[in-house]
Amino acid sequence: MSKKWWKESVIYQIYPRSFKDSNGDGIGDIKGVIQGLDYLKRLGINIIWLSPVYESPNDDNGYDISNYRAIMKEFGTMEDFDLLLKEAHKRDIKIVMDLVVNHTSDEHQWFKESRKSKDNKYRDYYIWRNGKNGQPPNDWISFFSGSAWEYDKTTEMYYLHLFSKKQADLNWENAEVRKEVFDMMKWWLDKGIDGFRMDVISLIAKDIDIDDEKDSKVVMPNIPNINNERVHKFLQEMNREVLSKYDIMTVGETPGVDPQEALNFVGNDRNELNMIFQFEHVGIGDGPDGKWGKSEFNLKEFKDIMSKWQDVLENGGWNSLYLSNHDQPRSVSRFGNDTEYREESAKMLATCIHMMKGTPYVYQGEELGMTNVKFDSLDDYRDIETINAYKEYVESGKKTKEEMMEAIYKRGRDNARTPFQWDDSENAGFTEGTPWIRVNPNYKTINAKSQLDDENSVFNYYRKLIELRKKYEIIAYGKYKLILDDDKNIYAYLRKLNNETLLVMCNFSDKNSKFTLPEDIKYNKKEVLISNYNVNCDEIEKIDLKPYEARVYLLIDR
Ligand code: GLC
Ligand code: CA
Repeated sequence: MSKKWWKESVIYQIYPRSFKDSNGDGIGDIKGVIQGLDYLKRLGINIIWLSPVYESPNDDNGYDISNYRAIMKEFGTMEDFDLLLKEAHKRDIKIVMDLVVNHTSDEHQWFKESRKSKDNKYRDYYIWRNGKNGQPPNDWISFFSGSAWEYDKTTEMYYLHLFSKKQADLNWENAEVRKEVFDMMKWWLDKGIDGFRMDVISLIAKDIDIDDEKDSKVVMPNIPNINNERVHKFLQEMNREVLSKYDIMTVGETPGVDPQEALNFVGNDRNELNMIFQFEHVGIGDGPDGKWGKSEFNLKEFKDIMSKWQDVLENGGWNSLYLSNHDQPRSVSRFGNDTEYREESAKMLATCIHMMKGTPYVYQGEELGMTNVKFDSLDDYRDIETINAYKEYVESGKKTKEEMMEAIYKRGRDNARTPFQWDDSENAGFTEGTPWIRVNPNYKTINAKSQLDDENSVFNYYRKLIELRKKYEIIAYGKYKLILDDDKNIYAYLRKLNNETLLVMCNFSDKNSKFTLPEDIKYNKKEVLISNYNVNCDEIEKIDLKPYEARVYLLIDR
């Protein structure tokens, strides 16, 4: 077992646009992040993952970068960034940056040059192909609806964009592109940042000119030919040229990757990445319409998926643990109960994730139990994926307006992007101006200020969970084992290290549920480490768990 600082850490994701606005223009910014550092210190997290702050025309809120070495004007200046890094480090908080290099903005200098002519020096920085009989080069579909190809009349060819047409895919086959990316990464690392979260990194190598679907191990229905062999070649080169020279952490966002393939990204002997974000558990119930279908949650499936990942990565890998981020709905609304049992279920979900083996990620506001939002009109939504999907489904008659709005309420990305709820003053204390996206109306009851001094708040529950990780080695390093496999309401598991066992029980139901301790679990001393109800009974052999109850015991056998 090799110990590493990033295995013992808790990571907090900041979506800067929605975190804190320091100058009243309605947009969160870097100075706002600095203002939030003491709050984060109090929570106890060790690492911030900062969603993109680079120069960007904001077609996809910063995931469309027009200059990798400059800060987005709305977010501030490079001096602000340097100060953030300094202030964070002063508080022992590390900063991990988003690295978006599958694509750039079409307003990036490289692309502006590339589209000028077929023999431009930057032409091969992007992926250009001829159309076929007036149609795009192939039938790949963009993640944001419509063809993944855009026709450009200057040179009468198409360029590839897996996301919006303002996000042109870089050509990783071109060694110059790789060199540019690696130089840029070194530039940021030399500034002292502590690592990268790599946007859709599983998708950087594509087999465009092959007609049959390859037996790709990265499985994406809309883009069948991702070449997994070369993805790894590129990442190993990146590791050799850049990552291995610094004491940093890396996590790759890897849609379409299964646990076996995951080991190729994070295996100790692979020299690629430290962790990846898998998507299986956040895709439970997705049907032919992907996330816009019915998507019913099923605990059994969730347990199977999480356990499979725990078991596979036990052999030389490491898990990243998350239930929400800026692309996913709020975890309490999705996996818990955001009305009657909001606090209980938010704490239960946190327990379930934070006690597993791996590095937990907290998405801003999750530590308050912030919930999904329902805006009446599409006009109040800002996310390009949501707006395009609405048009695609409603205009084609595939769904009614009402059905599509319901789907957006469940899964739309703006659920996670409403402003952080600091207090109960106007606009939740996020801004003194008009927020770029409306605040969730429940900010009067759900906000940080009201939770900080309340011992029983969701915030303080997270704080305790994070504190426990620092105190008990078993939380980072104990081996995972699922128990009560078939129970439909309870997710229970063990963690084992030497003579200690952690016993974690989580009731995912709004009904009482009976827990029975498997007979082979031996101990002669036990202690409750954390629970979301008062625990007043000493017996653990049989427990009647209350709605969304969670408990963690430390059992010692000597
Ligand atoms: C990743 C990001 C998402 C973005 C997309 C394109 O999935 O998390 O927010 O829209 O990549 O960059
Ligand atoms: Ca601002």
